[in-house]
Amino acid sequence: MSIRIAPSILSANFAALGEEIAMVEQAGAHLLHVDVMDGHFVPNITIGPPVVKSLRKVTKLPLDVHLMISDPDKYIPAFVDAGADMLTVHSEATVHLDRTLNLIRSHKVGVGVSINPATPLSMVEHALALADMLLIMSVNPGFGGQQFIPYCLEKIRRARQTIEERRYQCVIEVDGGIDIDNLPDVVRAGAGVVVAGAAIFKASDPARKIKEMLEIAAPLGYHSTYA
Ligand code: DX5
Ligand code: ZN
Repeated sequence: MSIRIAPSILSANFAALGEEIAMVEQAGAHLLHVDVMDGHFVPNITIGPPVVKSLRKVTKLPLDVHLMISDPDKYIPAFVDAGADMLTVHSEATVHLDRTLNLIRSHKVGVGVSINPATPLSMVEHALALADMLLIMSVNPGFGGQQFIPYCLEKIRRARQTIEERRYQCVIEVDGGIDIDNLPDVVRAGAGVVVAGAAIFKASDPARKIKEMLEIAAPLGYHSTYA
């Protein structure tokens, strides 16, 4: 599987979301990354199921919904009904991660689990058996446009190694502070999906930026037999 780019709409123009999304879809983006924040798990509030439902109507791209919310189990059915294709929860936000991941699975959508920069990989090592995607945060969740935290690269490499050794069917997504300068490191470390918000939507030519990212990432992609 070659590298996929997931633009994060957090940095898009919310007054013109439809046009912004059409533009990234046209430019070759693979997924649409939707950041849901509750003002409790993270110090910011963004969007909820009604917006996801509206997005579902204007794009064919899979909706990769990143839930930065406490007690995610309560809201999983609403996001599934709204049209999410993949639901990612934070391991730090649920007491019974195994139960939460199984709940997502029971709704027949993609299962993602995320860890904050300071959370060790060991926290989810076993639960990865239940996940389609591991989302490694490379900034503290809550805001777009932050600086990439370099020690996360080692975590990506170790995650890649664990996934290979255990033959898990789990792709690694990396989220936060990614642009042209650090993209090669992130991809070489083992990312299969790269999220980019500010790098794309704050660029003078966002479509060109996506194409540039794809050109840089494609030849460096980690080719795994498993994910
Ligand atoms: C941060 C969000 C990210 C963010 C990425 O809490 O989860 O998806 O929008 O944006 P950039 O690429 O600007 O760091
Ligand atoms: Zn995100």
